Amino acid sequence: MFRRQHFTKISHRCFSSESRINSFIKSKLMSAEDIAEKLPEKLTLGASGFTPAGYPKVIPGAYAQRIKNSKNPEDFSINLYTGASTGDELDGVLARTGRLKLKIPYQSHPDLRKFINQGKLDFIDMHLSHVSRYMREGIFPPINVAIVEACDVTSDGRIYLTNSSGMSSTYLALAKDIYVELNEAHPLEMKGLHDIYLPELHTGRPINIDYVDDRIGTPYIRVNPERIKGIILTNKFDSSPGFKKPDDASFKIANHILDFILNEVEHGRIPKKLLPFQSGVGNVANAVLACIAKDNRFKSIEMYTEVIQDSIFDLIDSDKLRFASTTALTFSLEGQKRFFNQLTELKSKFILRPMEISNNPEVIRRIGLITMNTALEADIYGNVNSTHVLGSAMMNGIGGSGDFTRNAYVSMFMTPSIAKGGKISSFVPMVSHCDHNEHSVQIMVSEQGLADLRAKTPKQRAELIIEKCVHPMYKDQLRDYYKQAQRVSFGLHTPHDLQQALSWHVRLQQTGSMHPDYQQTKTKDTEQAAKQDAQTASTKK
Ligand code: COA
Repeated sequence: MFRRQHFTKISHRCFSSESRINSFIKSKLMSAEDIAEKLPEKLTLGASGFTPAGYPKVIPGAYAQRIKNSKNPEDFSINLYTGASTGDELDGVLARTGRLKLKIPYQSHPDLRKFINQGKLDFIDMHLSHVSRYMREGIFPPINVAIVEACDVTSDGRIYLTNSSGMSSTYLALAKDIYVELNEAHPLEMKGLHDIYLPELHTGRPINIDYVDDRIGTPYIRVNPERIKGIILTNKFDSSPGFKKPDDASFKIANHILDFILNEVEHGRIPKKLLPFQSGVGNVANAVLACIAKDNRFKSIEMYTEVIQDSIFDLIDSDKLRFASTTALTFSLEGQKRFFNQLTELKSKFILRPMEISNNPEVIRRIGLITMNTALEADIYGNVNSTHVLGSAMMNGIGGSGDFTRNAYVSMFMTPSIAKGGKISSFVPMVSHCDHNEHSVQIMVSEQGLADLRAKTPKQRAELIIEKCVHPMYKDQLRDYYKQAQRVSFGLHTPHDLQQALSWHVRLQQTGSMHPDYQQTKTKDTEQAAKQDAQTASTKK
């Protein structure tokens, strides 16, 4: 009751009949090129944006052009701090200047990734819930400029954000100079979606969120208007990647998860009205929500998460979404248009929070979440690698997966059992990098099946994972490893054959596959193809 009244009060305050371009905005209007000229050559930029949502889309390009036009591009250097990954217009254009030196705290852009893995660009991969405190305590090089995308700015310095909250409140609090991209593609009705609250440092005060729809802050970020040095007008949608329909393996994983949840409800470990969900990015996460939407046994769903994707529309269409709390709305172009068109009716079902709050361990543990994140690979004992290919090449980053997993009520990791058409097994003797360890990972799921690792010894976990999750083409190989490990291991609590533990990765690097038969198969295939070519050629003659 309290929650609903509270929300009504805030949204009433936020709706406004004022025209978007007020006299304050007019007085600050500049061109992107003029702003680019004003930015320092040594730029430490705090930008809005979280997983291609709500990021500045024009000023970074103008700054990149200034570097390109410069006679001394080497005089420039950029540290880029964002909420998470952003679009090409920010992460991409700045990476391609060659002057981006440091990126924090997440990325998924192919150019950024390339430079990181070539060793040309530093990247600090960290739990997203830690970023704000690190920034405010001066652990990172300090920000000199903040650029945020907004749907409105008022003369008393209220900034209303767009599709994400991310790190904006921290960056706006810390930057000397603030620039705003006022994006008119976003309806003014966006005002009221956000709930901005930053916990003070070292007070020990609780963050008073007991339910996913509790509001504890303001719908805007307030800054001293004198610090706003310039505003540009834009009219651009987020360039989020299109919505990829979940594949067959994802639907199988989703069904294992649904069966597991219903079994937990039957045993009284999850309440009948369920617990709020957190779901990671990608195919599999989308499939889970799509399956929940179709399944009559699931009635009303709450989300307390960091990213909402197009799959939320399945829940909306089946009238099952009770409420979603997030830090970003990462919709496809169609998704953005649909959300804006239906904003009046959808607004009461969404809150966007700073990532300090969406990912806050205290709140996650109190609310009691069912978390679902994706692994690149997992080992037989339940350790998970979500970030590093062959232990050394960065994929995207840990993002919020650690914040949610470690503090979850039930933590699940999902992955298809094989990658790259079977050249890679997602289940290996030992992970080549560990993001989430065996103590935090409770449930492991692939399309093959689900392993409940709770209250299991390492050896029981190994047997379960091998039997339930591993693809048939790698099952015997992994059983053989485990047997051999029990024979030669130094200790028998968590048996390992240290000589062989990473041999699958070594084989992948050397031969292009983790499977020992791959070379043979490849040779046979090549011989077969050559024979067929020869036959075709002789027939033609
Ligand atoms: N080794 C090497 N490559 C692998 C691999 C492995 N063990 N497993 C998967 N891949 C490759 C896939 O082949 C695919 O490559 P492609 O793009 O060239 O086809 C790529 O990794 C992505 O895999 P995909 O199966 O499409 O999964 P995804 O899009 O769901 O992404 C993660 C999986 C792990 C990369 C992604 O979820 C992630 O970055 N997670 C960490 C951050 C996170 O969890 N954030 C969520 C908190 S909200």
